[in-house]
Amino acid sequence: MDFVLTSDSPESTRRLAACLASLLDAGDTIVLTGDLGAGKTCFTQGLADGLGCPTQVTSPTFVILHELEGRLRLYHLDLYRIETAREFADLGLEETLFGDGVCVIEWGDKFAEELPEDRLALDFHFDGDTSRRIRVSTFGERSSLLAAKWRGAC
Ligand SMILES: Nc1ncnc2c1ncn2[C@@H]1O[C@H](COP(=O)(O)OP(=O)(O)O)[C@@H](O)[C@H]1O
Ligand SMILES: [Mg+2]
Repeated sequence: MDFVLTSDSPESTRRLAACLASLLDAGDTIVLTGDLGAGKTCFTQGLADGLGCPTQVTSPTFVILHELEGRLRLYHLDLYRIETAREFADLGLEETLFGDGVCVIEWGDKFAEELPEDRLALDFHFDGDTSRRIRVSTFGERSSLLAAKWRGAC
């Protein structure tokens, strides 16, 4: 099930994410794509808030993985600087990606075949200064159910 959400401010993006956070289960995977500045990290901040993570979400830049503790453990990954399959493999992310935390992965489409297949994918588009469109796509039963709940609740 695919649909588009709209946001007219950073707060609105964080609110949408916090609502999604309330619906997440251990093992869920969310991939975020879209140009620099489109709102992927902003969305992740809302996810962390919604999960009750006390630590601030930052843009990882050189740090590929941040781990935050909340209702569920949140792994925030940013693959922007990872270029080759070898570099990705060397990160040794299997336990993170296939464990019982929630993974939110900026630029995750770069290594999509290495990620859990059943994942929620959010593609961010600029739609004016503070407007964004977020295209929601799903890749299996679990993510479809999650997306349907999110659409109904937020
Ligand atoms: N509706 C919106 N949703 C998300 N961010 C927005 C929105 N409107 C403006 N912004 C601004 O756009 C920037 C998004 O940055 P960031 O989340 O770091 O992007 P990315 O991680 O995709 O590179 C922030 O400066 C934020 O304040
Ligand atoms: Mg970012």
